[in-house]
Amino acid sequence: MGEPMTVAEGLAGVRGQALPRHVAMIMDGNGRWAERRGLPRMEGHRQGVKAAERLVRFVAAERLVPCLSLFAFSTENWNRPRDEVENLFGLLERFVREQAQELVEEGVRLQVLGAVEALPASLLRAIREVEERTRRGDVLHLAVGINFGGRWSILQAARRAVELARAGKLAPAELDEVAFAKLLPTAAVPAPDLIVRTGEEKRISNFYLWEAAYSELYFTPTLWPDFDEGALLAAIRDYQGRRRRFGKVEP
Ligand code: IPE
Ligand code: IPE
Ligand code: MG
Repeated sequence: MGEPMTVAEGLAGVRGQALPRHVAMIMDGNGRWAERRGLPRMEGHRQGVKAAERLVRFVAAERLVPCLSLFAFSTENWNRPRDEVENLFGLLERFVREQAQELVEEGVRLQVLGAVEALPASLLRAIREVEERTRRGDVLHLAVGINFGGRWSILQAARRAVELARAGKLAPAELDEVAFAKLLPTAAVPAPDLIVRTGEEKRISNFYLWEAAYSELYFTPTLWPDFDEGALLAAIRDYQGRRRRFGKVEP
């Protein structure tokens, strides 16, 4: 291990090699971050939102990658205490409302992925508004998973396929991997090259499933509120050292 690198050095380093096109983040560890400080879990979520804002700003300003996903609320997170769920929705609503103008200015297109109809009406409205306002952003495609689940996503595509088949617009033999992927709610984002999970656990927790078939996985014990620019650059550097074979034999 050499001297710790500055962000500028880290940036210069990763720019010397092929960068991922899509980095997806499982933002875990907010609760533990707070508990370790004797603070309520909610404070961890507040700091977590700050970390997300900082990272988006950095990625967009540096044009580091063209697509970034943030997993913010899973279909299983409804099973948390009601006040935590409500607080999270409140934070997410504030995030999209307060960030909207900056996202427009930075050229970020925000797309929310998930069963949004089940979300509180005011959050859903805020999501629709920010998606509309940032529609033309072409610097960074920011996909935020809210009430998202990998299984939900695959089910959505399966339902659409059934509907198309019923309407006589899709023959079973036409439904191959390419056609199916186009029916997924994630169709507009490329498959993630790199999936990063913070907070110690080594699992996918129902995040991207279909899309993760050949993603490189990076796990770090760093808790999400502490995940900063340098931590992202370290993850990308690690990714750049991987050999992606996609089932082939190396030449
Ligand atoms: C944030 O971390 C991720 C969300 C599901 C909102 P957690 O709230 O899961 O934090 P830990 O895992 O309890 O530390
Ligand atoms: C994964 O974190 C979901 C999000 C980051 C939104 P969880 O904290 O919900 O995952 P588990 O329960 O540890 O698998
Ligand atoms: Mg967790």
